[in-house]
Amino acid sequence: MGYILKKDQQDLVNLAKDFAEKKVAPFVHELDQAKEPGQKLLDIYQEAVDMGFCGLEIPEEYGGLGQDYYTVAAVYEELAKVDAGVATAIAASGLGLKPVLQHGTDAQKKLYAEYLTGEKGSGFCAFCLTEANAGSDAAAGTTVAVKQGDEYVLNGTKCFITNGGVASVYTVFAITDKTKGVKGISAFIVERDRPGVSVGKEEDKMGIRLSNTTEVIFQDVHIPADHLIGQEGKGFIYAMQTLDLARPMVASLAVGIAQRAIDESVKYAKQRVTFGKPIIKHEVIAFKLADMDMKTEVARASIINFLNTYYAVPKRNYTREAAIAKCFAGDIAVQVALEAVQILGGFGYSREYPVEKLVRDAKIMQIYEGTNEVQRMVIAGFVANQ
Ligand code: CAA
Repeated sequence: MGYILKKDQQDLVNLAKDFAEKKVAPFVHELDQAKEPGQKLLDIYQEAVDMGFCGLEIPEEYGGLGQDYYTVAAVYEELAKVDAGVATAIAASGLGLKPVLQHGTDAQKKLYAEYLTGEKGSGFCAFCLTEANAGSDAAAGTTVAVKQGDEYVLNGTKCFITNGGVASVYTVFAITDKTKGVKGISAFIVERDRPGVSVGKEEDKMGIRLSNTTEVIFQDVHIPADHLIGQEGKGFIYAMQTLDLARPMVASLAVGIAQRAIDESVKYAKQRVTFGKPIIKHEVIAFKLADMDMKTEVARASIINFLNTYYAVPKRNYTREAAIAKCFAGDIAVQVALEAVQILGGFGYSREYPVEKLVRDAKIMQIYEGTNEVQRMVIAGFVANQ
């Protein structure tokens, strides 16, 4: 583990590891295979909220754990080692929280703190940016918020929303001025229980099946004007700033998957004997493991590189470092998980063993919170302008 943490931070990481191994691991196989994970998954979510994992980055003055992002990344890695779906649910809640932490008023921060520490609702929130025709091209959304007196009226449908069906509060991006392009998008707080809010189709996903992904529909939803986050017209910028901070946290999930793939491979390679010796003693396997370890450590280091940049110089642009961490870690998670399947051979391909799930879980790391093609576009922009 590459993070250098103080004792109290490491204690929290150990608590996350213990939670994941004792409270999540026993149910992962069953819930991953289930058509609908149901109440058992909600119970796990509730325990995660009770442990404070959705409020990791909320300052202590608001009732959160007030952790820095080194600790958050290390916690997410431990959770993802056991199940990247549960880790995704928690990280996506953090994604919805970030615009409020960065640009919200004191009252808005208090409101989110109540929601994410379990004082109110489910303990989860969701980040509603993506629409059917606005994925990579995030500014192409059509959801609108029209100002009427001291309210906005919201209409539109968001899709592929992590926590869509379990969140009690949504951070929603909508057009407030069609004539201004990206400068006409604003960010809003929308409580789930407002009339006109409903949850649409739930995705039946290849991986991260212990996370909930749905459409969220807003039909003539009246929201008070004080639910606008920051300034009108700044929503797109806020979304980008949020993603700059959230993408390295996705990288930490990817590193968790890769580390688990290594751990499972080493365990198997030590006990599996071929041609008279454990396969770990065959150079072909040992070198695979060395490559897996090297890639995973470098991915972790790319998160640390981002965090060093983020904390070193306030207001310095860290978009490039965020994109590198997310893209590299997402790519190597898929490669390392696939190598684990290869090392376990037929067992690796079987659902009886945990590694085929790691491949399914790893794949989304190249897709959500900005595809790795978008990350390469962002990095290429910096390379071209240096
Ligand atoms: N920080 C601050 N400002 C930024 C920024 C950043 N990182 N990136 C862009 N901007 C600003 C630009 O400076 C520009 O402002 P000015 O005109 O004042 O200079 C404005 O935003 C528009 O920028 P672009 O012209 O570069 O914007 P674009 O429309 O070409 O899009 C993009 C750029 C990088 C492709 C962006 O659309 C993007 O990141 N797409 C991917 C979207 C994404 O990550 N979606 C994930 C959804 S969340 C999710 O997956 C949740 C879940 O539930 C798991």
